[in-house]
Amino acid sequence: MDKNLIKEVAKIIKNSKHLTGFTGAGISVESGIPPFRGINGLWNTIDPTFIEINYFEHHYADSWKDIKKIFYDFFGQAKPNPAHIAFAELEEMGLMKAIVTQNIDNLHQDAGSKVVYEFHGTASTLLCLDCYERFSAQTFKFDPMPPKCPKCGGKIKPDFVFYGEGIPEKAYRMSMIEATESDVMLIVGTTGEVMPACMIPTIARQNNAKVIEINIEPSALTRGTTTHFLKGKAGEIMPEIMKEIKKL
Ligand code: APR
Ligand code: ZN
Repeated sequence: MDKNLIKEVAKIIKNSKHLTGFTGAGISVESGIPPFRGINGLWNTIDPTFIEINYFEHHYADSWKDIKKIFYDFFGQAKPNPAHIAFAELEEMGLMKAIVTQNIDNLHQDAGSKVVYEFHGTASTLLCLDCYERFSAQTFKFDPMPPKCPKCGGKIKPDFVFYGEGIPEKAYRMSMIEATESDVMLIVGTTGEVMPACMIPTIARQNNAKVIEINIEPSALTRGTTTHFLKGKAGEIMPEIMKEIKKL
C-alpha cells in the first residue's frame, strides 16, 4: 500500500467541499457477496438472462429459481465491512454528502449511511406487478415457489433493475446532480463497464472533480477518468485513509 498516496488522498478528502461516493459490487466482496465480473464474478459462470426483463416476464418460474438462489437464499446474512463503515463515518464527519451505489445489498444503509442513491434499485423490497403492494424481502415467504403476492396472488418482482429496464428516475436525477456538484468523487469496487451508471464518475471528472479510485485491479475508469488510483482491497485501504484523515 502506497503510504504517501494514502496521505495525499486523505488530505484531498479532508479538504473536499462536496465529496460523493460511487460504489460497485467490489465494496461488498469482503462482506461475502461475490462480484459480477472479475475474480469469482457471478457472470463468469452464470448467464444473466434470468434477470433480463422479457425473459422474466415469459419464464417467471425459471427466472425466480435463479433469483432466489443468487439474491435471496443468503439475503440479509451479509454485514457491512470496514469500507462501508468508513463511508458512513465520512458522512457523519460532514464530508461525504451522498453515495451513488450500483449495489442492491443495502449494506451502505446497514452501515449507517443516510444519503444513498440506489442506481440499480434494491433487493430489499419486492413489488406485486398486479396490485403494486410492496413487501420487505426480510419477511417475505418465498415458499412455495414461484412467489405469489400474499395479497392478490399476483406476480412478484424484486425492486432491483433488470436488464432492459430503466434506471429509477429519482436515483438517476440525483446521481447526475451529485456528479456535477462533486469536487471529489471516491470510487470503490466497480469495473465501470455498465452504462449509464459508469457515466457518473465521468461527469464528475468533466466537472474537474478529483476522482479517487480503490480497486484490486484497474477498471474501465482508471485510465480516462481516475486521478488517484489506489490498488488494493476496499476493506483494507479505506480504514488506512480514515486513520490519516483523523490525524489532519
Ligand atoms: N476491493 C475493491 N475492489 C474489488 C474488491 C475488493 N475487495 N473485490 C473486487 N473488486 C473489484 C473488481 O476488480 C471489479 O472491478 O470490484 C469490481 C466488481 O465489478 P463488477 O462485478 O462488474 O461490479 P459493478 O461494477 O458494480 O457492476 C455493475 O453490473 O451486473 C450489473 O447491475 C449489476 O450493479 C451491477 C453492474
Ligand atoms: Zn398483489
